[in-house]
Amino acid sequence: PENVGILALELIFPSQYVDQTELEAYDAVSAGKYTIGLGQQKMGFCSDREDINSLCLTVVKKLMDRHHIQPHEIGRLEVGTETIIDKSKSVKTVLMQLFEPYGVTDIEGVDTTNACYGGTSALFNSIAWVESSAWNGRYALVVAADIAVYAKGNARPTGGAGAIAMLIGPNAPLVFDRGTRATYMRHAYDFYKPDLTSEYPVVDGKLSIQCYLNALDNCYQLYKKNVAKRHNVEVDLTYFDAVLFHSPYCKLVQKSLARLALNDFVQTRGEAKPERFPGLEQFSNVKLEDSYFDRDVEKAFLAFSKGYFAQKTSPSLLVASQVGNMYTPSLYGGLVSLLISKDLSELVGNKIGLFSYGSGLAASMFSLTITSRADDDGLRKLIANLSHVKPLLEQRFKVEPGKFEAMLQLRQETCHRAPYEPTSSTETFSPGTYYLVKIDEKHRRFYERV
Ligand code: ACO
Repeated sequence: PENVGILALELIFPSQYVDQTELEAYDAVSAGKYTIGLGQQKMGFCSDREDINSLCLTVVKKLMDRHHIQPHEIGRLEVGTETIIDKSKSVKTVLMQLFEPYGVTDIEGVDTTNACYGGTSALFNSIAWVESSAWNGRYALVVAADIAVYAKGNARPTGGAGAIAMLIGPNAPLVFDRGTRATYMRHAYDFYKPDLTSEYPVVDGKLSIQCYLNALDNCYQLYKKNVAKRHNVEVDLTYFDAVLFHSPYCKLVQKSLARLALNDFVQTRGEAKPERFPGLEQFSNVKLEDSYFDRDVEKAFLAFSKGYFAQKTSPSLLVASQVGNMYTPSLYGGLVSLLISKDLSELVGNKIGLFSYGSGLAASMFSLTITSRADDDGLRKLIANLSHVKPLLEQRFKVEPGKFEAMLQLRQETCHRAPYEPTSSTETFSPGTYYLVKIDEKHRRFYERV
């Protein structure tokens, strides 16, 4: 099959949020730390009515309804998540409740876990399935979903929650480029979840930033090599119309784009540097591995890449700044943000670079190309079916920081309790949302839909 890629996208996020300016005041940190320092505006969060199953049920059902996909048209469905509520039973098997009533049980795929990277791994699997001898002509559906919560402290404002579903198949309007993907994986304890009774990670913030930037350097350089080998083209920032990143917080993404400019700079021959990077000669001897926290380098390359950021990356940060780090859906929330920020005519033929990072660590850089046919019906439909996202962001309910903290405390105390009946209100949920009704004494979970 040709032109394997994304045919449809569905994104959901919590119906309630806490305002980051109000959280700064409540946490008694200096004004601007979360909003300017981290670049975050609002943070979505879930009450005890939502869990990983309910988020995934909602996003899959909504995608299938909105795009009129019949259950028997799906041949593979897999979930990427790090929100684990069962050490054996996959979220995928819970989602089979949406297919069984139609007699559909022949659907491959289960769950994939590695921090924020599980969704990307599920996506790669699904692309490979469509391109393989096992393919049976049906669609693959990739679900990435998480509830990102941190213990009270300096990591808490970088939480979030959400889910995305991506319909994968041939002849897509968003086509994954072949033969140029670049991956970087190694062993690190930057962020991990060793306490199976807690939703909170153990996180070394500084190390996680260093690991992220190091993985970015390595993936970008390998991606450049792969494109040079396959297409005889030299990649730099001008190669892409948009560059999307996993977004723990928006400021790190801006620094990451600057980091790509630094990579381009380091790889440029000495005599070509003054013309391509005017005013940056003093950094000629900078080594990537020594510069993760070098303030002067960071400042200079942030300034140099400012225009690139505004043009190629800033449009992809709408959901990240308004909802927070959704973990596995974060990068793909960036794709949705980009698609709803521009006119269709501006998107046609675009080359989009994507960087996926999951602590621990696993990272990949890859790219996709939007169809160059302005009259492509698939592209028009894909984008038209995202028109509700901006209004839905606006319709969310604001919750006071004190109440937000109380709700996280309730999650903390009850997330693995059985039997349990959630007490939070269901009033804020938008139509079509699944929510948890009860957990019985055998830990079985039951849901209803608004
Ligand atoms: N006005 C403007 N900016 C401010 C203000 C203010 N009043 N106060 C602080 N800042 C700036 C700081 O200068 C800093 O900016 P810089 O990084 O450019 O120097 C920024 O705000 C954050 O302040 P820090 O003191 O560095 O923040 P802290 O160390 O308390 O926490 C951290 C930040 C480490 C990111 C923490 O939130 C965390 O651990 N998050 C989870 C881990 C994470 O997201 N890692 C990223 C990759 S891995 C992943 O995806 C999970």
